[in-house]
Amino acid sequence: MRHQITNTKPMQVMIVDDNKDNVELMQQILEDEFGLITAYSGYECIEKATTEQPDLILLDVNMPEMDGYETMQRLQQDKVTQNIPVIFASAYYTEPSMIVRGLEQGAFDYLTKPVNEDILLAKVHVVKRIKQAEDEIRQQKNELQLTNDKLKSVDKLKSIFLASMSHELRTPLNSIIGFTGLMLMQIAGTINDGQKEQLNRVKRNADHLLELINDVLDISKIEAGKVDLSITEFDIATLVNEIAQSIEPEASAKGIKLEVKMPDKSIMIKNDSRRIRQILMNFMSNALKFTMHGSIHIELIIENSQNIIIAIKDTGIGIHPNDMEILFEPFQQVSSQLTKNYKGTGLGLYLCKKLSSLVGGDIQATSVLGKSSKFTLIVPVEIKAGGT
Ligand SMILES: Nc1ncnc2c1ncn2[C@@H]1O[C@H](COP(=O)(O)OP(=O)(O)OP(=O)(O)O)[C@@H](O)[C@H]1O
Ligand SMILES: [Mg+2]
Repeated sequence: MRHQITNTKPMQVMIVDDNKDNVELMQQILEDEFGLITAYSGYECIEKATTEQPDLILLDVNMPEMDGYETMQRLQQDKVTQNIPVIFASAYYTEPSMIVRGLEQGAFDYLTKPVNEDILLAKVHVVKRIKQAEDEIRQQKNELQLTNDKLKSVDKLKSIFLASMSHELRTPLNSIIGFTGLMLMQIAGTINDGQKEQLNRVKRNADHLLELINDVLDISKIEAGKVDLSITEFDIATLVNEIAQSIEPEASAKGIKLEVKMPDKSIMIKNDSRRIRQILMNFMSNALKFTMHGSIHIELIIENSQNIIIAIKDTGIGIHPNDMEILFEPFQQVSSQLTKNYKGTGLGLYLCKKLSSLVGGDIQATSVLGKSSKFTLIVPVEIKAGGT
């Protein structure tokens, strides 16, 4: 879509020459189409350029007191005038080196004197076209900025809405889960096997719904900028070991070997352990979900004095190279033929990506389709409170 330039004011051209005849000649050529400002010395040029802000300066090189080069230099030193294009004018007999000097100093173009009417008009028209294009770009940039600001505030509203909605949803859901659990424990009376089976189904689905709501709540809180980190000093080696132990029963039930490799010492870091645990648990749950046989290998590496790397590699279904890009986008369950059999919403990795930048880190993924996947979390050993 082309945008209409609303500014209809003619382009303002400043003519600078110590010779009145030259000024008059150029005035006659340009006056029909352009607004004109005249100056008869370098000083006058600088003064008027500062106050009147012309769109173009036609600047004579040979002037007494302050020549064109010095005038141009001074114009460039002042923020108010430094972006005004300058076409300098010098006499026919001028050395090429003088022209080069002017252009290298930042002039837009040059003219030789006596000025040829057609050439002068053609060169001023070039500047006019560039100015129009610049005005158009500036206007579009402003419009984009406005739209962007609007989108940002709408997006923030959406996140705030989702955050409070999911928070409200958790209360009744917790009650459903709690009472279903109590009924299964048969505290208020016995239930038969058929009822037990049905209640177990209610509980499984309610648990799944709660996980989903928790993910949505976390994501919207992060997006609304409402997540505070809780930074403590803790041993990341112990954390990784605990996580590995927690998935051990499920892994061995599936016949999957769990391997943990890490330095034989505690590794103290200052970061948010809950958030790091959340990321690693997501990696683990994916590795378990998408691996049918083989192993899950967890490795902790001290990359350098600033970063720790935790890599989780599985021998599962792998990910197609084309899907690697969309892996971290929300609601993406890649390769639907492969993943349709696996439960999930496709929010896990999206949340992980958000959490990783929250804790000042990053995530990387590599995979060989049908063979293996490796998810790597890089975290800083120290994150400053309140910043990522
Ligand atoms: N270890 C893995 N091996 C193979 N594919 C994976 C692995 N981890 C993630 N994926 C692919 O990336 C997709 C997105 O993962 P993500 O964790 O975001 O979603 P999900 O596990 O399907 O659902 P959710 O985590 O919300 O329950 C998965 O659906 C799967 O296709
Ligand atoms: Mg997942």
